[in-house]
Amino acid sequence: RGTSFSIRRYCQKTPATLRVSEAVSGAKLGANVKVQGWVRSVRPQKANLFLHVNDGSSLQSLQVVASSELLTLGSAVEVTGTLRKSPRQRQPFELEADRIHVVGDCDPVDFPFKIKERHSLEYIRQFPHLRCRTNAFSSLLRIRSEATTAVHSYFKENGFVQIHTPVITSNDCEGAGELFQVEVKGEKFFSVPAFLTVSGQLHLEVMSGAFSRVYTFGPTFRAENSQSRRHLAEFYMVEAEVSFTQSLEDLTKVMEDMFRSATEHVLAHCAEDVDLFHKHVTPGHRVSPQGHFAIDILNQSSQKFAFPTDWGCDLQTEHEKHLVKHCGNIPVFVTDYPYDLKPFYARDNLDHPEHTAAAVDLLVPGVGELCGGSLREERLDLLKARLGEAGLEDTYSWYLDLRRFGSVPHGGFGMGFERFLQCILGVDNIKDVIAFPRFSHSCPL
Ligand code: 4AD
Repeated sequence: RGTSFSIRRYCQKTPATLRVSEAVSGAKLGANVKVQGWVRSVRPQKANLFLHVNDGSSLQSLQVVASSELLTLGSAVEVTGTLRKSPRQRQPFELEADRIHVVGDCDPVDFPFKIKERHSLEYIRQFPHLRCRTNAFSSLLRIRSEATTAVHSYFKENGFVQIHTPVITSNDCEGAGELFQVEVKGEKFFSVPAFLTVSGQLHLEVMSGAFSRVYTFGPTFRAENSQSRRHLAEFYMVEAEVSFTQSLEDLTKVMEDMFRSATEHVLAHCAEDVDLFHKHVTPGHRVSPQGHFAIDILNQSSQKFAFPTDWGCDLQTEHEKHLVKHCGNIPVFVTDYPYDLKPFYARDNLDHPEHTAAAVDLLVPGVGELCGGSLREERLDLLKARLGEAGLEDTYSWYLDLRRFGSVPHGGFGMGFERFLQCILGVDNIKDVIAFPRFSHSCPL
């Protein structure tokens, strides 16, 4: 009894700790509460000091009214006081502070962000260890977290099983040679050369021999010597594999549904944060499957391209942009690429007079290629011949086994998660949609 009495007294005395997102919506109005966070702005006015405190839980910071104390931008604080209505409509609640405990102070001279200054994404990118303290980048990280949930929700709701494909692998799925090799003190660690994965596709294909719908969502690595605004050396890829496919349409449907569902989820759950990026998109437009030949559209254009547009040439960023524009700035599927441009796993469209593969890319405004996918060659003789031509039959004997033991028509695709965020937020540079960007010559922390 004695104990329960003292607990009640203790509870009465101890203020409830609120997240900033709760406090700004008026939870526990009139009560004595505690809020912990970092100072995002400081404004002295007459005898008072107005602070904005944020803990990453919402775009809105909590206004704290204190009698003058020395506090600097960026300090970590614990504020205790009474939550009350504020005279301002834009922030209806504020915290009248009784006590401010500075948990960690911040040197205002060396701190790279200044009060009342607008910092561009380019500027804050120079401080990868501090940029999460800005409004723009904390919004981005909340959106990214919610978009991750959106992707998982889509696959869960549609009966896909998530597979944790390995980060270390012995295959070069795409065959483009953009591999980071894994070694210990310059020596092989495994019995075979090993690399950071460029794609989880081949491991997903293993699983698609037992599960008709699988997906993976994790980091992938490309030793691409590129500083472009849409390439990273480490990026996150969403990959799906579907068994018993009838045609490429079975894949484009999943690509479109996932894109639409994830976009709508983000817009519904992060409206305030998305607004900060001042961009609105109309998700999920679809071009008719009886579309035009991409190559004809490019050849008939009056635009002068730096790269040639003959049949058999791969699409460059400038071509992708032109195609998206030509179709009215909406997402566009380009299908049936020249066979020789596609990796060994792509299915041969034997019935096409031009030699093509059943491959598809989804191009989107502002970004270009967002997804790449294909039907996979499930016919043992054709796959064996193609691997044989490349001298890879022994390396991929296990992959050929998948065609020997219960092979089914199947296909899949990969979506670059950062490019998805660029597309829905209108962010120009891929380095601004990932917490710690890695690209050639840059791995600062
Ligand atoms: O077109 P990619 O290379 O396709 C594959 O890797 C397939 N194995 C996927 C599959 O079918 N399971 O890459 C897929 C997507 C691209 O469309 C692009 O959005 C993104 O991954 N991507 C990159 N994103 C950022 N930086 C890079 N260096 C990227 N390379 C590809």
